Amino acid sequence: MPAAQIPLAALWRTREYLRPYYGQLVGMLAAALLAAGTEIVIPLLTKAAIDGPIATAAASKPGAPHGHGLLVPIGLAAIGLGIAEVVLNLIRRWVQANAVAAMEQSIRGDLYAHLQRLEPSFHEAWQSGQLLSRATTDLSAIRRFAGFGTIFLITNVATFAVVVTLLIRLNLLLGLLTALVFAPVTAICLRFERRYRVLSRRVQDQQDDLATYVEESAAGIQVLKALGRRDQAAGLHRDRAMTVYQTQVSKARLRGTFWASLDLLPNALIALILLLGALAVSHGGLTTGGLVAFIALVLQLVWPIEAMGYILALGQEAATAAQRVYEILDTDPAITSPPNPAITSLAALAATSAAGRGTSGRGTSGTGSSGTGPIGTSRTGTGPTGTGPTGTGPTGTGPTGTGTGAGMSGTGTSGAGTTALATAGTAALTVPQPRSGGRPAGRLTFDHVSFSFPGASQPVLRDICLDLPPGETMALVGGTGSGKTTLLYLVARLAEVTSGSIRLDGTDVRELPLPVLRTAVACAFEDPTLFSVSVRENVALGAPDASDAVIEAALAAAQADFVQDLPWGLDTRIGEQGMSLSGGQRQRIALARAILASPSVLLLDDPLSALDVHTEAKVTAALSHALTRSTALVVAHRPSTVTLANQVAVLENGEITALGTHRELLASSPHYRYLMSAAPDSAGQDPARQDPARQDPAALDAAALDAARADSAGEDSAGPDSPGPSTGADMTGARR
Ligand SMILES: Nc1ncnc2c1ncn2[C@@H]1O[C@H](COP(=O)(O)OP(=O)(O)O)[C@@H](O)[C@H]1O
Ligand SMILES: [Mg+2]
Repeated sequence: MPAAQIPLAALWRTREYLRPYYGQLVGMLAAALLAAGTEIVIPLLTKAAIDGPIATAAASKPGAPHGHGLLVPIGLAAIGLGIAEVVLNLIRRWVQANAVAAMEQSIRGDLYAHLQRLEPSFHEAWQSGQLLSRATTDLSAIRRFAGFGTIFLITNVATFAVVVTLLIRLNLLLGLLTALVFAPVTAICLRFERRYRVLSRRVQDQQDDLATYVEESAAGIQVLKALGRRDQAAGLHRDRAMTVYQTQVSKARLRGTFWASLDLLPNALIALILLLGALAVSHGGLTTGGLVAFIALVLQLVWPIEAMGYILALGQEAATAAQRVYEILDTDPAITSPPNPAITSLAALAATSAAGRGTSGRGTSGTGSSGTGPIGTSRTGTGPTGTGPTGTGPTGTGPTGTGTGAGMSGTGTSGAGTTALATAGTAALTVPQPRSGGRPAGRLTFDHVSFSFPGASQPVLRDICLDLPPGETMALVGGTGSGKTTLLYLVARLAEVTSGSIRLDGTDVRELPLPVLRTAVACAFEDPTLFSVSVRENVALGAPDASDAVIEAALAAAQADFVQDLPWGLDTRIGEQGMSLSGGQRQRIALARAILASPSVLLLDDPLSALDVHTEAKVTAALSHALTRSTALVVAHRPSTVTLANQVAVLENGEITALGTHRELLASSPHYRYLMSAAPDSAGQDPARQDPARQDPAALDAAALDAARADSAGEDSAGPDSPGPSTGADMTGARR
């Protein structure tokens, strides 16, 4: 069994967290030992008083001078020792609180940091309640033992040894008898410990289950209510709570029995000592004071012996807890930064991409078409990637981009659209440049990428080859479960490719330090996670230094103007998991967050799914501008979002089965037509009859946007089926 799986070994390992406090711990132990020492000395003083001054006084004739002289100093010494004990205990508790709380805090800090390092698949595999109880209950168990437990384990053993020695010196026979009677206590303790260990672990596990269940029902309260499952949920909760209750009761019973039997021993022993002691006194084997001291000392053994059971139980609990904590701390993150990365900063990556742009910019464009070998069959045109002048358009200056965005789709849309674009324009001027000096160009290349979930028989993604030149927007379209989300996860290394590679500006993402990669890449997922902090903090998650103006611009770009109407504007605290906002509102805040991060690569996993068609059209229009600054991979289900893209990739059962522009694919891919229009998946029908604009109101907007794009592209566009130049050319052509 590895060390971490043996509870005691795990507990022993926690000493690394106590190292900074070794000095304090030694002081604490010294105080505890001295306090125990003072307690032991008091019965000896009593003996001295009884056998000395008191005995003399009792023996002397009335009126004769008696030895009161010694009684006063003995009394004063006893008082002094009593006060010393109080002070020593005070010192011990004070030091203990500080050192042990600090120890708990540093383990908790490490645990949290480690949980943050672990990849999503780890968090999927572990129930949140299990993690929660490790970070709370388990840590308190370790803290209790580290402070109280260890000190008294040592102090009590020392007390036992010293007191038994004193007892034997007072009276050999009675002393040995006492030691003999207390000896089986160790055996009882051990027996207890074994049974308690099992129950301890069981209670902790069942509490985890219960915590997870309560958390899940709180998160899914709408579902439970909507389906009228409250009673059933309450029933399931009752069952789990009952299980915890029963185990806890058996645990308490076991502990109760144990302590009761421990109590029995000293009481029986005292009775025996009184009897035998009186005999010894009458035979002169023991003085009266000796007998009193003897009984007082035996009584002093009771607490340490009793507490021994509790301390062993505490130690057991702490050992189990330490084992559970190390179970997490010893799980190595599967996805880590490379040990010796060649590129250590965003600026360094930007430098390599700048070099790449200068020398092989077009060359890599070319690989776009060669890279599409496996999917060449389904592609109608060759133009899309080949002609895109990589650097110029997308990486061009902001203001130019602004004009582009506005002109591009503004003409075709209604008044609402125009307003949206005006805001988009503002956004473009104020959304910040990346924090560091350099900004990677953002060429994203998938090179024969395959992925399987661990233990799964079938790969989720197979031989994906895609090339997104800087500034390109590619839509990813596919049915549910086709692997779209997984593909985005791979780019941000939230999961790791099984074979093949993903490159950012020519560098394998696995060769980039994670912080660099994740600054260069930003994601917004369909189910947006908002934290229970203000809107401002939620939006500025990826760019903590952003000013309010910039945050507002990003919100405007994401059409999240509703924030202004919230009670405290940007300062409004979002309820737990964003509950107080609608799904669409949450999505737009998450979108603003991704836009604000100003990444080189923007990953959007169906970010508009919860929006109504009109809001979606506005966001789409605004996004089409925001996206000119980033290479974007956008999962989309609706034609209006797809029209954002220069290219569309169709993902079917984990494979790219078609690649081209929206129009090309409408003409060439029955599966794409099906996905876009919900029409029967029948090939060979008249494409005109599959025109999404005829079937889907959303498509009407899309068609309008599309038309606007074509219109504003003007003479550059040869016709609806023309492959169309890639981003840069499109944007420049579309100006005004
Ligand atoms: N953690 C996981 N473990 C195993 N299989 C998974 C996991 N997550 C997703 N899958 C499977 O991978 C496939 C692709 O999922 P996903 O990328 O989420 O699809 P999409 O986003 O296209 O709907 C699905 O069949 C899904 O069941
Ligand atoms: Mg998905």
